Amino acid sequence: MILLLLLLFQFLFIAAHDSNQDFTALSSLTESWGNKPPNWVGTDPCGGGWDGIGCTKSRVTTIQLPSMNLTGRLTDDIGGLTELGTLDLSYNKGMSGRIPPEIGNLRKLRTLSLVGCGFFGPIPDSLGALNQLTFLALNLNRLSGPIPRTFGNLSNVDWLDISDNQIEGPIPISDEQGPGLDMLLKTQHLYAYLPLSEFDFIIFCTQIRINATTRSSPMHKAATSHFGNNHLSGQVQPKLFNSNMILKHLLLDNNNLSGKIPDTIGLVKTLEVIRYNHNYMSGEVPSSIGNLTNLTDLYLGNNKLNGSMPDLTRLNSLATVDLSNNSFNSSSIPSWASSLPYLTTLTLENTGLQGKIPTSLFSQPNIETVIMRNNQLNGTLDVSNYKPNLALVDLGANKITDFAQKGQKITFVILVGNPICLETGADSKSYCTNSQNSITYSTGPNNCIPPSCRSNKVSHKCVFPYTGILTSKAPEFSNFGNESYFSELENSLLATFQNLHLPVDLVFLSNPFWDTFSGYLSLDLKVFPSQIDSFNRTGVVSISSVLSNQIYKAPGFFTPYIFNGSSSYDFSAECSSTKIHTGIIAGAVATGVVILVLSITVIFLIRQKKRTKAFNPFANWEQNNNSGNAPQLKGARWFSFEELKKYTNNFSDANAIGAGGYGKVYQAVLSSGELVAVKRASQESMQGAFEFKTEIELLSRVHHKNLVGLVGFCYDKGEQMLVYEYVPNGTIMDSLSGKSGIRMNWIRRLKVAVGAARGLAYLHELADPPIIHRDIKSSNILLDDHLNAKVADFGLSKLKDSDRGHITTQVKGTMGYMDPEYYMTQQLTVKSDVYSFGITMLELVTARKPIEQGKFIIREVLRIMDRSKELYNLHALIDPMIKQEGNPKGLEKFVDLALKCVNDHAEERPTMADVVKEIENILQLAGFNPNAESTSTSETYENASGGKIYHPYVDEDFAYTSVFPLVRVEPQ
Ligand SMILES: *[C@@H]1O[C@H](CO)[C@@H](O)[C@H](O)[C@H]1NC(C)=O
Ligand SMILES: *[C@@H]1O[C@H](CO)[C@@H](O)[C@H](O)[C@H]1NC(C)=O
Ligand SMILES: *[C@@H]1O[C@H](CO)[C@@H](O)[C@H](O)[C@H]1NC(C)=O
Repeated sequence: MILLLLLLFQFLFIAAHDSNQDFTALSSLTESWGNKPPNWVGTDPCGGGWDGIGCTKSRVTTIQLPSMNLTGRLTDDIGGLTELGTLDLSYNKGMSGRIPPEIGNLRKLRTLSLVGCGFFGPIPDSLGALNQLTFLALNLNRLSGPIPRTFGNLSNVDWLDISDNQIEGPIPISDEQGPGLDMLLKTQHLYAYLPLSEFDFIIFCTQIRINATTRSSPMHKAATSHFGNNHLSGQVQPKLFNSNMILKHLLLDNNNLSGKIPDTIGLVKTLEVIRYNHNYMSGEVPSSIGNLTNLTDLYLGNNKLNGSMPDLTRLNSLATVDLSNNSFNSSSIPSWASSLPYLTTLTLENTGLQGKIPTSLFSQPNIETVIMRNNQLNGTLDVSNYKPNLALVDLGANKITDFAQKGQKITFVILVGNPICLETGADSKSYCTNSQNSITYSTGPNNCIPPSCRSNKVSHKCVFPYTGILTSKAPEFSNFGNESYFSELENSLLATFQNLHLPVDLVFLSNPFWDTFSGYLSLDLKVFPSQIDSFNRTGVVSISSVLSNQIYKAPGFFTPYIFNGSSSYDFSAECSSTKIHTGIIAGAVATGVVILVLSITVIFLIRQKKRTKAFNPFANWEQNNNSGNAPQLKGARWFSFEELKKYTNNFSDANAIGAGGYGKVYQAVLSSGELVAVKRASQESMQGAFEFKTEIELLSRVHHKNLVGLVGFCYDKGEQMLVYEYVPNGTIMDSLSGKSGIRMNWIRRLKVAVGAARGLAYLHELADPPIIHRDIKSSNILLDDHLNAKVADFGLSKLKDSDRGHITTQVKGTMGYMDPEYYMTQQLTVKSDVYSFGITMLELVTARKPIEQGKFIIREVLRIMDRSKELYNLHALIDPMIKQEGNPKGLEKFVDLALKCVNDHAEERPTMADVVKEIENILQLAGFNPNAESTSTSETYENASGGKIYHPYVDEDFAYTSVFPLVRVEPQ
């Protein structure tokens, strides 16, 4: 008996001790966190019903705090919570810092979800020790470094998503040095993509239009093994794939992968989605792909694949096929294109197609979109047997001479750039213009915000929805006019929440947005509470984790999806006296107190009207009579003047980091800790509300790794400001001049050049409408923490030009970089940017300003250049720092390219896409795989002040007094 008591005592003691230990670990872990749930009081996380904490036997086993607006870091104290099974801190953008290696102590962890936070630095190797892990999602952070080899030990993982980070290097394969990802036999989903710019949520009364012209851009989509959108490089080893894998979604899009697609991919019979698009894959498509009969989405576009076009005849489940922009042998349209029964979306742009277009292509039951631009298709286009789902046929830039419509009024065909559109009178034909019908989708009230609701809390019945962005990485449909897809999604979401007994009343989707670069389809999601004004923390945790942990199973046409929740939710929001639920009205009517209700309504309307003014961030638009509706933004948020004033330290000079004709740029720290650059327009350079709105709408849709991302804007108190991501390593001019202490060797300069060129090519060719930068120069190209180039200043750069551009002195741009043709004719084209880029290339070679001591760089180069001599005899001009390296390989070709770019005649200059290709070739020639990004860039960080190398950029002041030099460049 005594023994028993002793045992019991000991047990209690141990239990108390452990729970105490967990309390200690938890309190030091969260000591510096902001916005912790208010009911975390006392010393027993397990006893008092702490929000987000779950326990078993007095030990903390669950921490689930998604979308809690938390701020702070994940410290090594996490390692003390040894019984933890679930850690979900997703969608807390204020959570940042490194992921501590001590997380590897949590041997019982099964779910680790850190989606959409601000974590950076490497993924700790110790994660590989978590062999119970089944779900690992680290996507949408700023993680860098390689994929740890130890991930190969995560033998139970079925969802692995590291996409939208800055992960680099090859995909590890098991070998004598250790494990690799080929060992992940249970993984069904593997994702890794480039960073999308941070999502934020402005929910406003808008239905974003899918502009059909947007949809004619090449499409790119994703699905389940998600490595997409990172900087993965090197070859994908054949060993990565084997027949024991049960992988469904392989997403490797938007990386720097090269080499052949391994034919072993055909062994993974479970594959449903393959996304290899936007890499540098070469060689033939392995015929084994033709064995993957479960495949629904195949994206191989934008690679360097050659040989014959793959035979997809047996792939009867295919819905989406994108093979565009590869170098396949010329062929006629493959027969499978007209026979795959479920095909909805077929993109064969620039794939060497020739010959006639079979009419059967358009009579397949499910076809929605056919894009075959830039081929050699000829003869007559006959779509007269088309099926009702067909929404877009883009056959621009082919050799089509006739169009048979048989009296139908067909509005979905684009034939721009075909002989048929060169005939006289063709301009008036709708198929000879790019304009297409726009398509909108929004459930719920069409004029979504009733006047009685506050602007940034979209309200239905005056309740406060939880919001976020739902993104399909491989939508199997492309006719966004077909609302049945969206309503099916809504219904399945609502059913999931209700089956889980969550207090959800309604689910709204709106603003379908097809990102033309990534090809992903995003929708705004709003989840409305039932019976209550706003969700409590438990409600938000449950809803959010249903989405963050993939508990919601989306319909096949939308999988795989990811969710990016809003980081903050106003838990205390209530409608107070303004609450008029139908229940109350019914009650009131029943008791005959109609007058009371009416008066409440009146008070309610008056109050709300006041509020609308106070809270509506876009009030300025509404007051301004001719600026149209409030802006429709993606990924950019609104800031008040007061906020930015605070974040920039009252626009103090100490925070100023740049200045120009438009005004000043300030460094600022947001409350989340995020560093940003705020560009404040001066009074003179302010534009009209309409122009400003158009510009931020445009900029908010521009996302590319080589472009500085827009975080938000301010249009308040008569000020116009744009808020950009902060790029830490200065401009390439700072680097060339020695000001920033970052030395760039020749290879780095080539990489910087190719990066900046890719950013510009995106602005010219993929942004919709295309954006001409107008002010490309070395001081507008920034270097991020991996010394990748990011083009800056493409916003507010068009200020006011339109109304005074005819005055020569007002031509926008910087002397020395300015296209002489633009200067003289004032006709701006994308080729003006090419010219400025050519000058910037010469700067990279010489580290000289374009005009120095009255000497113009082009003239100087041409003066001493001799193509028959080594390095074209340019020794006297080449930056000593690169000469020091010995033989800068490919320098001659680089100079040739620069000179082509600065040709006097715009039409002789290459396009930016040509420039990208050529610099890639030069990188290859220099012995560097343009696709392989070095994992370590530290060797290029060096303080130049210690060196003795002369830098021609002595003063930072770019004051030019010389007249614009006109120099003829002889064609080669
Ligand atoms: C397709 O699979 C069959 C049997 O599963 C195999 O014999 C054939 O070689 C495969 N084809 C290719 C091209 O891999
Ligand atoms: C989120 O946190 C920030 C500061 O950490 C605070 O200013 C803001 O009000 C919070 N948002 C909500 C909705 O609670
Ligand atoms: C679609 O976008 C293009 C380019 O921005 C624009 O010119 C056109 O007016 C838009 N079409 C519609 C219907 O909004």
